[in-house]
Amino acid sequence: MKPVRLGVLLSGRGSNFLAIAESIRTGKLTGAEIAVVIANVADAGGIESAQKLGLPTIVLVSKGRKRAEHDAEVIAALKQHDVDLVILAGYMRLLSPEFVAAFPNKILNIHPALLPAFPGLDGQTQAFEYGAKIAGCTVHFVDEHLDHGTIILQRAVPVLDTDDAHTLAERILVEEHLAYSEAIGRVVSGEYTTVGRRYVRRDAAK
Ligand code: GRF
Repeated sequence: MKPVRLGVLLSGRGSNFLAIAESIRTGKLTGAEIAVVIANVADAGGIESAQKLGLPTIVLVSKGRKRAEHDAEVIAALKQHDVDLVILAGYMRLLSPEFVAAFPNKILNIHPALLPAFPGLDGQTQAFEYGAKIAGCTVHFVDEHLDHGTIILQRAVPVLDTDDAHTLAERILVEEHLAYSEAIGRVVSGEYTTVGRRYVRRDAAK
């Protein structure tokens, strides 16, 4: 079967992108290939990493641009690269409704908290300051609402008494790197389906 083509969008260091690339390289994640890596920030570290891996990269700076116009360029670039599945990997920009509609149920995001708790910026610090005892990360489909679409997979991380927001974020990041590839694997496998808001194995779906 033809591999599912991933279009990775990022704004920063790109450690989640690298973890996905490594999972593909080592055969832990099969049935997917990275078609293009797109950044909306000129000096995003993830772009340099992608270039080193020999992957196609594009920078489309979003600062000062109208969301709809910028999104239209990103959509065009994704389509040009025959992208099947859009992977938001630290993409610090809200998507317009037009973007979401252009890839229905084909956009994934990772959030560093156990949704629906602590949506928005800096979920790890929010969870830490709230005094949560269990933190974690969520991979979910993107819909038109912030950090809201169907949950594909979550991984939990206990909050230790000795933690600060930084140490907690570091341990959550370790789990993010595992969670994202596993979640992509579930989506590309075709073995999962959506029942209401529940993303479950087809053979178990009720
Ligand atoms: C991660 O914590 C991710 O959950 C959040 O943004 C951060 C991106 O980190 N959405 P990286 O660029 O993948 O290292």
